Amino acid sequence: MNDPLLEPFQLKHLTLRNRIFSSSHEPAYSEEGMPKDRYRLYHEEKAKGGVALTMTAGSAVVAEDSPPAFGNLHAYDDAIVPWIQRLTDGVHEHGAACMIQISHLGRRTSWSSADWLPVVAPSPLREAAHRAVPKEAEDWDLERIIGKYADAAERMQAGGMDGIEIESYGHLFDGFYSPATNERIDEWGGSEEARLRFPLRVLEAIRARVGEDFIVGVRMSIDEVQPNGVDRPHGLRILKRMEDAKLIDFVNVIRGTVSSDVVLTEVIPIQGMPAAPHLDFAGLVREETTLPVLHASKIDDVATARHAIREGRLDMVGMTRAHLADPHIVLKIMDGREDQIRPCVGATYCLDRIYEAGEALCIHNAATSREATMPHVIPRSATSRRVVVVGAGPGGLEAARVAGERGHDVVLLEAMPWAGGQISLAARNPRRVDLQGIVDWRVAELKRLGVEVRYDTFADANMVADLKPNVVIIATGGLPQVPDRVDGSEHFVTSWDVLGGDVRPAGSVLLFDDNGTHSAMSAAEMIARSGAELEIVTPERMLGIEVGGMNHVPYARAFNETDTRITLNQRVMAIRLEDGQLCVELGSEHTTHRSPRHVDQVVVDQGTQPMAELYFDLKPLSSNLGAVDYEALLAGRPQRHALSSQAEDKRPTLSSAEGKSPWRLNGPRRESLANAKGTFELYRIGDAVAARNIHAAIYDALRLLKDV
Ligand SMILES: Cc1cc2nc3c(=O)[nH]c(=O)nc-3n(C[C@H](O)[C@H](O)[C@H](O)COP(=O)(O)O)c2cc1C
Ligand code: SF4
Repeated sequence: MNDPLLEPFQLKHLTLRNRIFSSSHEPAYSEEGMPKDRYRLYHEEKAKGGVALTMTAGSAVVAEDSPPAFGNLHAYDDAIVPWIQRLTDGVHEHGAACMIQISHLGRRTSWSSADWLPVVAPSPLREAAHRAVPKEAEDWDLERIIGKYADAAERMQAGGMDGIEIESYGHLFDGFYSPATNERIDEWGGSEEARLRFPLRVLEAIRARVGEDFIVGVRMSIDEVQPNGVDRPHGLRILKRMEDAKLIDFVNVIRGTVSSDVVLTEVIPIQGMPAAPHLDFAGLVREETTLPVLHASKIDDVATARHAIREGRLDMVGMTRAHLADPHIVLKIMDGREDQIRPCVGATYCLDRIYEAGEALCIHNAATSREATMPHVIPRSATSRRVVVVGAGPGGLEAARVAGERGHDVVLLEAMPWAGGQISLAARNPRRVDLQGIVDWRVAELKRLGVEVRYDTFADANMVADLKPNVVIIATGGLPQVPDRVDGSEHFVTSWDVLGGDVRPAGSVLLFDDNGTHSAMSAAEMIARSGAELEIVTPERMLGIEVGGMNHVPYARAFNETDTRITLNQRVMAIRLEDGQLCVELGSEHTTHRSPRHVDQVVVDQGTQPMAELYFDLKPLSSNLGAVDYEALLAGRPQRHALSSQAEDKRPTLSSAEGKSPWRLNGPRRESLANAKGTFELYRIGDAVAARNIHAAIYDALRLLKDV
């Protein structure tokens, strides 16, 4: 049967090889505002994986007074053209089309970055998400910026892009036509006609510069769903104006606005929110326009994408985060391997990280954006080895999967009757149940790869040694840590007790979050939703300090809806029993002041401590005494070669880079810790080393095992 997803689509003169595209998203991989190798390889991988169109950048900025808010490309700089050319060449080589989104961010950025120019907007209205107070754009600003849009479009055309898309939701372009953000009464505001003047002038300038044949589209909110904003009839009227004037060739439909994290999650829904929430809306837009309709919003599975095309809702379906999780979606569909697609679980670690850490990473695909060093398709090893992995949490599952792909003989030992480790706990929060996909996908892959998984098996050193391994991976995870310097610490229960259902929240509960990650926030959410009266206490200056803005939204909603009390900058100093209740003494380093609380339960989250007994038992039996050669690890060399090649000095020299005479460290060489009597290599990964997160455990496993 013909798959509608695999039908080509004609966009003007451009034939797209199927119906799946990756919509513009700024992953913050730019270097000095340029799309260098990391950027290029990231997009090339999707092209290799069969995607029809990859929309690059996200809001590549057209002018200097649109400072990059999240690593945006500098479309205003001529120096970008050769980099764009390399990017488009790379994508085209693998048969995909390549476009780019350009924009002036308007008020959706910060004045205190890049060139420190004042940010501009139609009216001086502050945007909640970025907090800058913009200047009301003057005539000279607008004339300049119109020209800048055209210049940027020309640069992208010169760089070999198949087309461009104008970002038209929450930025300067749409800020003019939306009555919610344009309060002007001059020629650029007031009537609907006047509010359209700036965006139409921008499109006219672009069209005049790039010509009739170049593809120009808008990614536009057709219904802003906000008071005084653009509603559907209004949005359709604007679209028709642009279409009738032949200024645009496609529309990429958005519904909603992005001015705060809360509304942003409605446009880009995160885990626990319904899938494909705006698909039918996009379908209604398609009925009203002759333009090709593109759309992306949590269409993360192939069945929904297929439905979107088959039922005529869309011409091109965006699977954007889905491609961060698995860039080879189309190949797998074509090969009848749909069940092998690594699922996007909606964790939105990717998007939160562009703000929190300056780069998008997928929570469970550590190869994404590391294409230069990490493979998406694991090569088979020339020699088969026996690999024993202990612990079937995310790190252990990934280690077993990668070792299986290498063609090794793999045994995975797990103490529990199921796989998942801490993910099984995290997924107990019904809103976060999709995290289970990280586990389920790997368990299915292990089955396909013929990896033997032994559940209910508490491994000890003898059991591991009896398996005669060449390599042992300890991925035993961690156990919750309880503050031992607090008087009365025996009264603490942990966030794990709550998440796992061993402790039912009742009465009044104080949760002491001394960790700042999801485990505390998620336990708090479950307590708040249980009907118990909750106070969260944290020594930090903000709640859930390690949790990103979008992931914070549902937690804040739960706490606001339940009148949860939030106390910052304080910690639990002591707990004692008093009249059948727990009396908690709160204090801080800021002052000697103490305040008491009387509650029924005190829950703590202080992260985990490694469960590494087995590792230390095995260490003396191993050939490497557990040591990881970090230089080899980071250089992508096998560990065992590195250990045996200590004679060869691999320390760096400055010679070629600096054009000077070679320079070497003069200090004493470090001796190898190799143990000649050892019979296997031993490594530990993930939280068995130190408390970190899912991505860290999976990255530990991938980068070590890909070379085993
Ligand atoms: C890291 C990241 C950055 C994004 N940046 C942009 C952007 O600059 N411009 C834009 O229009 N959309 C941006 N998006 C939104 C995506 O294009 C897409 O609409 C969104 O991820 C929903 O589609 P999906 O559910 O298929 O991922 C971004 C998304 C992610 C994950
Ligand atoms: S981090 Fe989560 S939402 Fe983002 S791509 Fe990976 S699985 Fe999808």
